Amino acid sequence: MGKKSVMVCICIKLLMLLKIRHKYLITAAALKVDFYKNACPQLHEIVQKVVATEFQLDPTSPGPQLRLFFHDCFVGGCDASVLLNSTDVNQAEKDAAVNFSLGSFFVIDEIKQQLEQECPGVVSCADVLALVAVYSVKQAGGPLYEIDLGRRDGLTSYAASSETFLPAFSLNVSGLLEDFHVVGLNLLDLVVLSGAHTIGQAHCNSIVDRLYPQVDPQYPKYYSKQLVANCTDNGYFKLPNYDNNTQFFNDPITPTRFDNQYFKNLEANLGLFTSDESLFNDERTRKLVETYASNQDAFFKQFGISLRRMGKIGVLTGTQGQIRNQCWVRNSHNVDPALDPASLDFVS
Ligand code: HEM
Ligand SMILES: *[C@@H]1O[C@H](CO)[C@@H](O)[C@H](O)[C@H]1NC(C)=O
Ligand SMILES: *[C@@H]1O[C@H](CO)[C@@H](O)[C@H](O)[C@H]1NC(C)=O
Ligand SMILES: *[C@@H]1O[C@H](CO)[C@@H](O)[C@H](O)[C@H]1NC(C)=O
Ligand SMILES: *[C@@H]1O[C@H](CO)[C@@H](O)[C@H](O)[C@H]1NC(C)=O
Ligand SMILES: *[C@@H]1O[C@H](CO)[C@@H](O)[C@H](O)[C@H]1NC(C)=O
Repeated sequence: MGKKSVMVCICIKLLMLLKIRHKYLITAAALKVDFYKNACPQLHEIVQKVVATEFQLDPTSPGPQLRLFFHDCFVGGCDASVLLNSTDVNQAEKDAAVNFSLGSFFVIDEIKQQLEQECPGVVSCADVLALVAVYSVKQAGGPLYEIDLGRRDGLTSYAASSETFLPAFSLNVSGLLEDFHVVGLNLLDLVVLSGAHTIGQAHCNSIVDRLYPQVDPQYPKYYSKQLVANCTDNGYFKLPNYDNNTQFFNDPITPTRFDNQYFKNLEANLGLFTSDESLFNDERTRKLVETYASNQDAFFKQFGISLRRMGKIGVLTGTQGQIRNQCWVRNSHNVDPALDPASLDFVS
């Protein structure tokens, strides 16, 4: 194929992806908690150990590790598409124009490398993402959740899809619900999974809508003063800001602890993003926020259920996709499926 027809092909594909925001079915399919029991008995221990080692070096490590799973699942299903690097002919999710400030790719690579030594060609990168999310929650002080395994790795990753499917920080409950419904999740999932923001950090960009041109009066004064001070230079908002090291804790009270403080913060108007605080401001979701703010066990229990549901979005199983040898690249010739529309596993 000539270069020109390749480009035409890719353009058609991207248009398709942008148009078809079809519903993903939550497919229970062949996933099982003990999928690797015989083929890779060391799996859990390897993941747990690497996550623990990272935590020793950096107590904020669970944040980006947990977030990767969300970004993977919402964009074309939990198929490790978020891990693929861009190629000459395709811009991958990782390199979307909107910089989502993802991190921790090296943690996934470290785990995958150890797995390939112990049980080569067996464990998918998509399942590594799922387990890393689970052990990150545990490492940050949350419960150890059960998660289904047996996902296969996808062949495609498109930057344009990230921007289509990932909810924006500036959305209210109506907008957030739209994005959650597209992937088959509901209002309960939205509220409880947002509780992931009980850990992790954010950049100024993610609160630009609440600081500029006007400071959102819902923030407590003392808090918005700090945010403004750290996000402006000579009166100008720092944009683009991902180059700056300025970061805020999503949960300023217990920043590295996985607990129900996030929901208490929403009640105290300390939600960092518009999307966070809207959960308390909207009648449809306020009751749930209050429930989780007063009952950590209820939050812990439902978070596990909803995380497991999120983990089933658009999964590949059986002989679909492949088990990647390295998480950032497809196996073998690395022919980009963008060149062959028939192999578009995304629209399955
Ligand atoms: C409800 C819709 C959601 C929106 C609008 C949203 C938005 C964001 C934004 C804007 C950031 C900060 C990015 C930055 O400034 O660097 C962030 C961070 C984070 N998000 Fe979400 N998110 C949502 C749902 C979720 C879900 C479902 C999870 C996981 C289950 C999650 C886990 C995280 C974590 C752990 C961080 C911190 C990452 C770090 O420490 O580097 N988020 N999110
Ligand atoms: C996105 O931000 C990260 C973190 O600052 C940076 O390492 C990366 O180079 C940025 N990517 C792009 C495409 O700007
Ligand atoms: C692909 O991504 C990995 C991170 O997962 C990075 O270390 C590596 O340098 C990238 N490879 C290429 C060829 O860009
Ligand atoms: C949510 O945001 C949309 C778009 O900005 C707006 O039209 C709508 O009125 C808002 N809905 C609620 C319930 O605040
Ligand atoms: C933050 O980043 C912006 C844009 O790259 C730059 O102009 C500014 O000087 C940086 N501010 C600090 C404090 O480093
Ligand atoms: C803003 O920056 C100051 C000085 O570096 C720091 O002490 C403070 O904790 C920051 N505020 C927030 C909300 O991160």
